[in-house]
Amino acid sequence: MDKILVRGGRPLTGTIPISGAKNATLPALAASLLTDQPLRLSNIPHLRDVTTMLELLGQHGAAITIDEKLGVEIDCSRIHNTKAPYDLVRTMRASILVMGPLLARHGRAEISLPGGCAIGTRPVNLHLRGLEAMGAEITLEQGYIKGQAKRLRGARLVFDLVTVTGTENLMMAACLADGRTVLENAACEPEVLDLANCLNKMGARIKGAGTGTITIDGVEELRGAEHAILPDRIETGTFMIAAALTGGDVTLTHTDPSILKAPIAKLRQAGVVVEEKKGTIRVRKNGPLRAVDLQTAPYPGFPTDLQAQMLVLVSQSEGTGTITETIFENRFMHVSELQRLGADITLQGNVAVVKGGGELRGAPVMATDLRASASLVLAGLAARGETLISRVYHIDRGYERIEEKLMALGADIHRLSN
Ligand code: EPU
Repeated sequence: MDKILVRGGRPLTGTIPISGAKNATLPALAASLLTDQPLRLSNIPHLRDVTTMLELLGQHGAAITIDEKLGVEIDCSRIHNTKAPYDLVRTMRASILVMGPLLARHGRAEISLPGGCAIGTRPVNLHLRGLEAMGAEITLEQGYIKGQAKRLRGARLVFDLVTVTGTENLMMAACLADGRTVLENAACEPEVLDLANCLNKMGARIKGAGTGTITIDGVEELRGAEHAILPDRIETGTFMIAAALTGGDVTLTHTDPSILKAPIAKLRQAGVVVEEKKGTIRVRKNGPLRAVDLQTAPYPGFPTDLQAQMLVLVSQSEGTGTITETIFENRFMHVSELQRLGADITLQGNVAVVKGGGELRGAPVMATDLRASASLVLAGLAARGETLISRVYHIDRGYERIEEKLMALGADIHRLSN
């Protein structure tokens, strides 16, 4: 298994391009199941989760062509299998995103029930409740969710809590349903809006995406389309924090500051200089960092996917900050690894109290989930000495060539393959 070796202490400087968003690519790929015409997606990040979703679509019967610029064309005219097997779903929970499209266009789906994972129990009850309200018959057999429906029908659905993939799954299902669906308390994440834009290009009739109320008027069929995936705001945020943490000066291109308002505001509050231009963000440190308090929240709040990285920044700031995780009940697995590097963090339920100012010292650490691994890389960049991170397959799920991009900014970082 690959490891990443980081020798800390070098300020990051230079310019790097941001990749397309993982969490917009996965639902857009699933959307290809809604039509028998080819869907062409560009600005696709080269990631393990994307490969897993392509593998899943392939075993459903999709024909996939990848061009030299990593654009992907998916042709779902010959779907012969509506089962998403355990072996794929257990490596990527977002596989559940094929459920809505398969039910809507093929009338059946059999998806391995995603289990818990390193960040919490993560049930899919709200996805299933919504599909049932649209007329699907859902049963659970031998660890598989089995769904059947002749034609889904429009419904008014109110989510108990904000769910990103739940909103996406039901929005896709509703595109081919009979009549109007209204999703209330829907997720407002930019990735939901990006999916709606893609679906509307395919002939869907979706209004209100990006707000808490989404209205979808079902159509008989969708057609092929071309769509460029929006920039990855979590990759952007991770590199912004890395720049601040190492006292560097980094410009991120091919991104969109308008979808990063909460992280940009927090970094400014921490004393970081952030300059926004269209498609570009420059981040540099100018004076000492100040500890901040923050609470994760659904968009437009501070994203849970940047919580671990921000925790490292606070540990290197003056003063004490509290970081409250409100989305996932167990998303603090990185804390014990960061403590091994010398970070002064105390956990009190879903609140991490971070005492800043202490020096981080390199040590061997283990990645537990995607964003946790990113926080360990960041901590390694700020630490004195060598940090050896194992189980880096987690990071390959969601960051495109992270060590190459950091190396290009001057980091002393290497992948050790064995
Ligand atoms: N929840 C339920 N029932 C459901 C669905 C969700 O109780 O049916 C709960 C979850 O357990 C959680 C909360 O609702 O406590 C929010 O979960 P959500 O459904 O929004 O998460 P998700 O859709 O599974 C997506 C991203 C995550 C990101 C979260 C929150 C994708 C593929 N994944 O997950 O991304 O953390 O939204 O923003 O879009 C990552 O990229 O590292 C990652 C984990």
